[in-house]
Amino acid sequence: NIRQVLRQFPYICKSGFEIHHMKTRQMHRIGEETGISQNTEIRKLLKEWYSVRKRNLPWRNTNDAYDTLLSEFILQQTRIEQGTPYFLRIKKAFPSIVSLAGASEEEVLHYWQGLGYYSRARNLHATARIITEKYGGVIPSDFNELKRLKGIGEYTAAAIASIAYGKPHPLMDGNVLRVISRLFAVDIPVDTTKGKKHIRNLLNGIFDKDDPGHFNEAMMDFGALQCMPANPDCPSCPFGSICVSRTEGKVPEFPVKTPPKPVKIRYFNYLAVRTSDCSAILKKRTGKDIWQGLYEFPLAETEEKVAEEMLNQTDFWTKFFPGLKIEQLGGSIRKTRKLTHQLLHISFTLAETSVQAENIHPPYIVVSPEKIAEKPFPVVISGFLNTMNKKIKP
Ligand code: ADE
Repeated sequence: NIRQVLRQFPYICKSGFEIHHMKTRQMHRIGEETGISQNTEIRKLLKEWYSVRKRNLPWRNTNDAYDTLLSEFILQQTRIEQGTPYFLRIKKAFPSIVSLAGASEEEVLHYWQGLGYYSRARNLHATARIITEKYGGVIPSDFNELKRLKGIGEYTAAAIASIAYGKPHPLMDGNVLRVISRLFAVDIPVDTTKGKKHIRNLLNGIFDKDDPGHFNEAMMDFGALQCMPANPDCPSCPFGSICVSRTEGKVPEFPVKTPPKPVKIRYFNYLAVRTSDCSAILKKRTGKDIWQGLYEFPLAETEEKVAEEMLNQTDFWTKFFPGLKIEQLGGSIRKTRKLTHQLLHISFTLAETSVQAENIHPPYIVVSPEKIAEKPFPVVISGFLNTMNKKIKP
């Protein structure tokens, strides 16, 4: 019997993991019902909810595709509250795509001032001109045609095609990922290709092909007003026990995300050593690590922080660089650098060596002060070199 039911969910039944998922989470609800009728129920409940809670936004309730296009450009990287007054001002100044095309880029940028991400304004203007010249001022309705325009990617093309022209393109943004992941208790992380694919399949199941634009906007409003990221309003949610995560009392656990990679803390102790003629001893970084191909001073990487007193002992360095007779020149300079998944604690200890250049062997090289600027360095090292410039030069 389970296999019979599962056959109706070809998109869910891809792996043993998902079959297990179905068994444990959903079988008890599906019973003799098919998934098809449950999707119909979700669709119906969302539609009813939207008829009551729909936000009254100025680009809605219009048959003008320009309103959709303009609002979607603005909302690409801007919240509704911030974007709405801009929409109204731009629409008033340029009431049609043709009038927008007739404006100068500077005028459009002027109206965009304060919204940020100004390439959106330049793309909007360029797109208005292409539509005016190539399409006689009529915004295309075809998804692929739309995607060819400037500043219009998958999402915006699907939004314009569905909202302005009723074409069946489901929209999948952060709201939709969250709502679906809670509704079906999707425990594949939503920030993975597999998770997104799974959610897209579930979304296709509930999607309203007869009313795509309203379905898409209903999902956006549902995510914004009912199924918010923090403190979703579950008590008044129309989906009730249909929502698997709610039934299991696990709403806060969804959407599941890949845990962030822990930040690796590293200690880079550099010996900023010069020869008696003020040349620097450097080494090129190779291997699969940060700063590949860039140059650095002799480096002693340690697991723990090395105390100032230790750094200022020649012993510490000779242990790392045997054969290099060095004399320290005062103290050390410490800097910190935060990379995406690493925190670097960097120290530079100034030193001089009487060892002749010919006795410095690969991978170390000796670089004269005139040539040092030709070498590529990590920013933190070139910053150090700039501040030390006077001290390194005679
Ligand atoms: N975000 C992007 N497009 C939207 C729309 N049409 N309505 C509400 N929020 C949106």
